[in-house]
Amino acid sequence: MDRAAVLAGALAARGGPRLPAVEWPDSIGSTSDRLKALARGGAPEWTAVLAERQTGGRGREGRAWVSPRGGLYLSVLLRPRFEKPGLLPLAAGLAVAEASAELGVRAELKWPNDVLVSGRKLAGILSEAASGNVGVEWVVLGIGVNVALDPAELPPEIAGTVTSLRAEGASEVPVPVVAAAVLARLAGWYAALGPSPGSVVSAWRSRAAPWWGGVVEVRAGGGAFRGRLRDVDDEGALLLEVEGGRVRRLLSGEVSRVRPAV
Ligand code: BTN
Repeated sequence: MDRAAVLAGALAARGGPRLPAVEWPDSIGSTSDRLKALARGGAPEWTAVLAERQTGGRGREGRAWVSPRGGLYLSVLLRPRFEKPGLLPLAAGLAVAEASAELGVRAELKWPNDVLVSGRKLAGILSEAASGNVGVEWVVLGIGVNVALDPAELPPEIAGTVTSLRAEGASEVPVPVVAAAVLARLAGWYAALGPSPGSVVSAWRSRAAPWWGGVVEVRAGGGAFRGRLRDVDDEGALLLEVEGGRVRRLLSGEVSRVRPAV
């Protein structure tokens, strides 16, 4: 059976979303670049592009996403009609953490959507959107999960900072089954985002790294802010208490821990 058929079967078994179209080449530049082209051409919601490896995988903040064989490289198209599409990236991180737990790996979320095990990166999400007169037209969620990477294929500078489902002792399942687990969880939270956005934020919080009250540094837009990590609000923004007790609301950035709460 080919991998798209395994994915469809695993999705049906989980009551996951029906994907109207799936492309799954062996190699591609970036699954998200391909899907953005399909989105601009009017592709329907839940169209997906996957690949066995990427030669130009992209990460957040303009970084590269090293994408050798043994990873899940998945981009999925959504056309949200609810009020708080800013929560979608959080919902995607949550879906990946839940799918990992299903496979036996307990991961933590770091805002906005890094998925970590003992501080090492298990998965990452890149959310890219286009807006028109009526708000957000489409969102391409690019999801990379380290399923069973061969450490020898990783550049030495990142080898110590990443982990994989296999390295963390997950049940050995094929990549299409990991994809189905993620997509089924994502569909559940996607359906909740309109009627009950608060449920997504509280579920996200319950899997977040317990850094609340501690001092963090957030690098965003060329600058860096230091403060106490207070919360994530109902639109997915990070609330940082900076000097003087003022609370700064951040929409994107890279969080690193400076010291824990006392
Ligand atoms: C991050 O920096 O944490 C986000 C990484 C996102 C990687 C995925 S892999 C599938 C999709 N295609 C890409 O080029 N990037 C995303």
